[in-house]
Amino acid sequence: MNMTILKLKSILLFSAVALGASAQRQSLDLRQWDFSRNGTEWQTVTIPHDWAISGPFDKKWDLQKVAIEQNGETQATEKSGRSGALPWIGEGYYKTTVTMTEPMGNATLVFDGAMSEPTVYVNGSNAGYWAYGYNAFRLDVTSLLHVGENLIEVRLKNVEESSRWYPGGGLYRPVQLLLTPKSHIDDWHTCVRTLSIKDGKAVVSVSARVANPDGVQKLNAVLKDDSGKTVAETWEKVQPNGIVQFVMEVENPRLWSPETPYLYTMTLGLAAEKHGATAQIFDGEALDETQTRFGIRTVSVSKEGGFQLNGVTRKFKGVCLHHDLGPLGAAINKAALIRQIKTMKEMGADAIRTAHNMPSQWQMDICDSLGMMVMAESFDMWIYPKCKNGYARFFKEWADRDVENLVLRNRNHPSIIMWSIGNEIPEQWSDEGREISRHLQDICHQLDPTRPVTQGMDRAEDALKSGFAQVMDVPGFNYRVHKYENNIRQLPKGFLLGSETASTVSSRGVYKFPVVPNDNSQFASYSPNYDPAALEKADGQCSSYDVEWCPWSNLPDDDWVWQDEKNWVIGEFVWTGYDYLGEPTPYDEYWPSRSSYFGICDLAGLPKDRYFLYRSHWNRQEHTLHMLPHWTWPGREGEVTPVYVYTDYPEAELFVNGRSQGRLKKQPSERLDRYRLRWNEVRYGPGTIEVVAYDEQGREAARTKTVTAGNPAQLVLEADRTTLKADGDDMAFITVSMADANGVFCPTADDELTFEVTGAGVFQAACNGDATSLQPFTEPQMRLFSGQLVVIVRTTKNAGDITLTVRNGKRGIERLLTLKSM
Ligand code: GAL
Repeated sequence: MNMTILKLKSILLFSAVALGASAQRQSLDLRQWDFSRNGTEWQTVTIPHDWAISGPFDKKWDLQKVAIEQNGETQATEKSGRSGALPWIGEGYYKTTVTMTEPMGNATLVFDGAMSEPTVYVNGSNAGYWAYGYNAFRLDVTSLLHVGENLIEVRLKNVEESSRWYPGGGLYRPVQLLLTPKSHIDDWHTCVRTLSIKDGKAVVSVSARVANPDGVQKLNAVLKDDSGKTVAETWEKVQPNGIVQFVMEVENPRLWSPETPYLYTMTLGLAAEKHGATAQIFDGEALDETQTRFGIRTVSVSKEGGFQLNGVTRKFKGVCLHHDLGPLGAAINKAALIRQIKTMKEMGADAIRTAHNMPSQWQMDICDSLGMMVMAESFDMWIYPKCKNGYARFFKEWADRDVENLVLRNRNHPSIIMWSIGNEIPEQWSDEGREISRHLQDICHQLDPTRPVTQGMDRAEDALKSGFAQVMDVPGFNYRVHKYENNIRQLPKGFLLGSETASTVSSRGVYKFPVVPNDNSQFASYSPNYDPAALEKADGQCSSYDVEWCPWSNLPDDDWVWQDEKNWVIGEFVWTGYDYLGEPTPYDEYWPSRSSYFGICDLAGLPKDRYFLYRSHWNRQEHTLHMLPHWTWPGREGEVTPVYVYTDYPEAELFVNGRSQGRLKKQPSERLDRYRLRWNEVRYGPGTIEVVAYDEQGREAARTKTVTAGNPAQLVLEADRTTLKADGDDMAFITVSMADANGVFCPTADDELTFEVTGAGVFQAACNGDATSLQPFTEPQMRLFSGQLVVIVRTTKNAGDITLTVRNGKRGIERLLTLKSM
């Protein structure tokens, strides 16, 4: 690695010459590490890496005898899958070497997160520590590095009962070594924001900080549009304290929004004045350069306008997302994140909430470029613990620094439209809680005066009484829509947010009879309705008729009434967009059950029926016509088997084997018939069910049918992308489905399959979305769940064809799929 700081030979003329070719900084991605759990046996790994995701699943890993107070429990009971039933607890060690050929001006290690409690050593010396596994942090290691080989080591420690969900373990986000000249632009202190957009002109304010300012320096700011054309440029003098502040104007700006995710790039170049020359001549000694992608857009909240993006009122159609990527665990991957965000956008979602912690940079970059608004969150607890060893251990000492890093690291992302300082913080009732809210919100305001701050509250009465709710820029309430009306009366701000909604539960492709809307309290030991016999007999699955919720939560339909009828409700964030590892409510006390049922998509990323319910209401660009359940019910002949249709059309007629079951219209006054069409008395008979939808004018607009499947006979493979990048990181997600001889989907198939990947790729993982499966994700073999599963194939650094072969030995069937990697 060459550390030479090049000198700019050319003379830079004031406001005329860009510093492009002279960038000195190098950001080295530290990808290859040796990893060990015990300090004696080592293996080579590529990060992002999650040491626990391969399992094995076992109830012993984080077995807890606790009462989950948030769920209203008072008696401690055994919870086995609460944090995913994977071996994430304990210590982990990583080491790597970096060779320097010349001395550097400044060296900073940048961690995007490390799970957890990372202590970093450079050449044997302690370089620093960070408590919170979810936050990004920087360590100045200039004085610890030397010319020659350098050893970098990271020690991580995860303790039991420290999380309410699966946190993962290891260097699960990127680590970089940033080498710059001694005097350099501090990119965490570079902030680009839109001050105003008026009369076809945007005023953009830039503030930057030069670390170790040196003599007379100037900053050259060049603002380019996404075609690379310069739209504004300026030279500004660096103050003796290193601060530079100025504004730039952009004519006819292209505004960022979820629908138009337009990005600009700001290049800042640092130049030193040439001794003895006029103020306009620089010779570029020890130059540095940074690039910041940003969007031109404004956000505001008010009583009159609610939430406004670029001056236009809109309601958040948001989903909460935990950080894990299902079968990939906590180890982040760009292809997986892109798939997540695209799938949510296709449903019509325009916002995510990074529940309940700091997001990764990659995820924010993707939200910027694909167009997804973000509520960037920080904490699940403050001083009072929600689990024995949670963040409460650190809050007093670390909270300010954690919020500071969240904002400094992320404030240039146009996608982030709001900060969140907490989720269901127990101290909502107290004066202390109110003052902490004010304090943390103030930190956000100081570092970023452009974004409102929120938090999710679950104890409305307490929070309104203590003033905890009133303090917030955006009062966010979790669930309990029936309290909204009472809440708003006590909120001078004049609006509120459904910061967490729904918590409806379902398992993809599972339908239970009779169809009875219920709050699942029969499975919760604290509930008066608790029925141990029901739990004993349970199968660990929830019904996909989407009529099951939790005692504290509700159905999507219940939220929409408020979203649609009250202009002071500024949107919602559904719990959750995807299933996640851990928190298997309502089966917290059932084994094996190790992942959630809340997801609109399952753990493999496959849409459940609920996806189409949200799509029918949220996606205003495309029509939705989706019917459930499947129609393969041997043994149910003649039995009542209700049919539900999720559609944006107002009316439809259902036919079973050609016989009309009636034409139904949505009923605005009925809880379950306002947004769904339900035929509750249909009796099952094998054959075909078909639904015909009618538009507002009563004209036939669309139809779809479901056919009874015969015996499983063939596999169908469908990749999300067929051309991949040969970079060793890219991934394809292949949905494998079982079909009969005629190609009809077999919705109950649970055959065991094996996977083989040859050519320019490797098998990464598989997932079937079954919350009760104990088959490891990283073994090339898995059962279908409700007829489907997803295989993840990863590229190598070699270009070429990748062939995935999926086999079912028992039936003697196999199917090949070829992808290209280039
Ligand atoms: C909320 C909480 C979430 C999750 C959810 C399940 O109260 O904020 O983290 O636990 O309940 O319904």
